[in-house]
Amino acid sequence: MDWSESTRRSFLKQFGAAGALALTAASAAPHAEGLALPQASGGQTAAQPEPTPADLKQTATREARMAWWHEAKFGMFIHWGLYSVIGQHEWAKEQEGVPLLQYELLAKHFHPKPNAARDWARAAKRAGQKYMVMTTKHHEGFCNFDTKLTDYNAAKQGPGRDLVREYVEAARAEGLRVGFYYSLMDWHHPDGAICKTDEAARRRFVDYTHGLIRELMTNYGKIDILWYDVAWPLNAEQWESERMNEMVFSLQPDIIVNNRNLLPGDFSTPEQHIQAAEEGRAWETCMTLNDSWGFNRGDKNWKSPWTIVDNLITCARGGGNYLLNIGPEPDGSVPPASQEVLEAVGKWLDGNGKTIYGTERGSLVADASCNYTRRGNTLYVHVRCWPGHTPAAEWLDFYKPEVVVAIGGLKPKVLSARLLKTGQKVEFTQDEFTFRLTGLPMVAPDEPASVIEVECDGEPIVNHAEMRPLWPRNKVGISE
Ligand code: GLC
Repeated sequence: MDWSESTRRSFLKQFGAAGALALTAASAAPHAEGLALPQASGGQTAAQPEPTPADLKQTATREARMAWWHEAKFGMFIHWGLYSVIGQHEWAKEQEGVPLLQYELLAKHFHPKPNAARDWARAAKRAGQKYMVMTTKHHEGFCNFDTKLTDYNAAKQGPGRDLVREYVEAARAEGLRVGFYYSLMDWHHPDGAICKTDEAARRRFVDYTHGLIRELMTNYGKIDILWYDVAWPLNAEQWESERMNEMVFSLQPDIIVNNRNLLPGDFSTPEQHIQAAEEGRAWETCMTLNDSWGFNRGDKNWKSPWTIVDNLITCARGGGNYLLNIGPEPDGSVPPASQEVLEAVGKWLDGNGKTIYGTERGSLVADASCNYTRRGNTLYVHVRCWPGHTPAAEWLDFYKPEVVVAIGGLKPKVLSARLLKTGQKVEFTQDEFTFRLTGLPMVAPDEPASVIEVECDGEPIVNHAEMRPLWPRNKVGISE
C-alpha cells in the first residue's frame, strides 16, 4: 500500500482494524447519534468474522468473566507515549510525516514525573470510573513497559522506569480494574510493514508481538482487560490471533479481550460513536474528551459534562460500556479541562450511580428531552432538558399543573414516581398515548441531568413512534 496517500481512516478501514469503522455514523457530535435507539443489529457486529474454535472455547466462561465489566459501565482510557511530547495528536508521526530517526529522539526526551498514574487513578475513581485501560504500546512502537525484546522502552530510555508497572499499581491502589491497550500495528519495528509480503519478516514480527504480549500477561499480576488495536497489515491468520488469544487466556484465565485482533473476542468496540451490538453481544464505546486520543495542546474542542453524562446514559440504555479517554501531558499531568469534566461527571454519579451501574439493556427510545435507563421494572427518566416555565401552561390543560415532563408511548402501567435527588413524590397521569409527570420544580433539581425514578408493573418500554400511529388525527385543525 502507498503510505503517503493513505489517510488514517482509510488506513484503518482498509485493513479492518477497527470494526466500528464499518459503521457509517462516526460522528463528531456523538450525542446527536447517541439519541437514536441502539439498533438491534449493528453493522459493527455484522462485520465480525466467524467465531473460531479458540473463541468458542471462551464462550463458556464469558458470562462469569464479564460480570464485573457489565456492572461497571464506565472506564478511563489513557493514551500516553512519545507522541504526548509533541502534543499534536497520537498520529502526528504518520500525519505529519516525521522521519523515524528523528521521531526516535523523543524517547530520550520523555521525562514524566514519578507516579503520574496515581493522579489518573484518583481522577478515575472520583469520576465514578471502575476500570482503566492504558496504552502499553501505541502505533509508534514505543513500549511504556520494560521488556527484554526491544530497547525502545520506557525503562531503557528517558523515563528510566517501567511506566506500565506504575500504572498497574496506581489503579490497584484505587480499587480499579486494570486494562492494557496494545497496538498490533507498529510503525517502528523494521518488519512492521514488510511482514505483509515477506514471510521471514512476518515470522519475526509475529514472534516479537506474541512475545511482548506474553510479557505483559506475565509480569504484572492479574490483568482484567486486553484491548488490542489496529491489526494492519496482517489478517487474523497471519497474526496467528487464535494462538495469541489462547496464550493470553492460558496466562490470564479471567481476562476479557476485545475484537481488534480480528477475532470476535468478548466485546465489540465502536469508536467515537454509540452503537449497540446485537442483543447478547457485549460492546463498549470508546471516545475522546476532545478530538484527540493523545495529548494535543491545540485541541480545545472539549465535550461538556452534559454530553459525557448523556453519552454514559445512552451507553447504559443499550447495555454497553463507555470508555472515556484522557491524553495526559508529557509529564503525565491530566489536562485541566479533562479534570474539570471528570469531576462534574463524578459528582453527578455520586448521587445518580444507581441509574447507571448494573442497569440492564432496555427497549427504550430517547427523545429530545429525556434519556432512559432501567433495572428490572424501574425506569430511570433522565431529564436532560428540564422544562421549567412554559407560556403554554396558560392555555393548555396538558401543561397544568405547570412544569410537566411528558413521555409518549410508555408501557406498561406506572405505579409510582419520585425525584431521585430529593426523594419527592411526583404526581402523574397515564393514558394510552402519554405519561405526564406534573407539578415538578421550576428549576432542574440536578445537573446535568435530573432523574425521575418510575416504578412500573412490568418491564418499562418507551417508544413514542409506536404510540403515534394510534393517535386520532380526524379532528386535526378543528380545535375549539
Ligand atoms: C484508533 C486510532 C488510535 C486510537 C484508537 C482508540 O484505532 O488509530 O490512535 O488509539 O483508535 O480506539
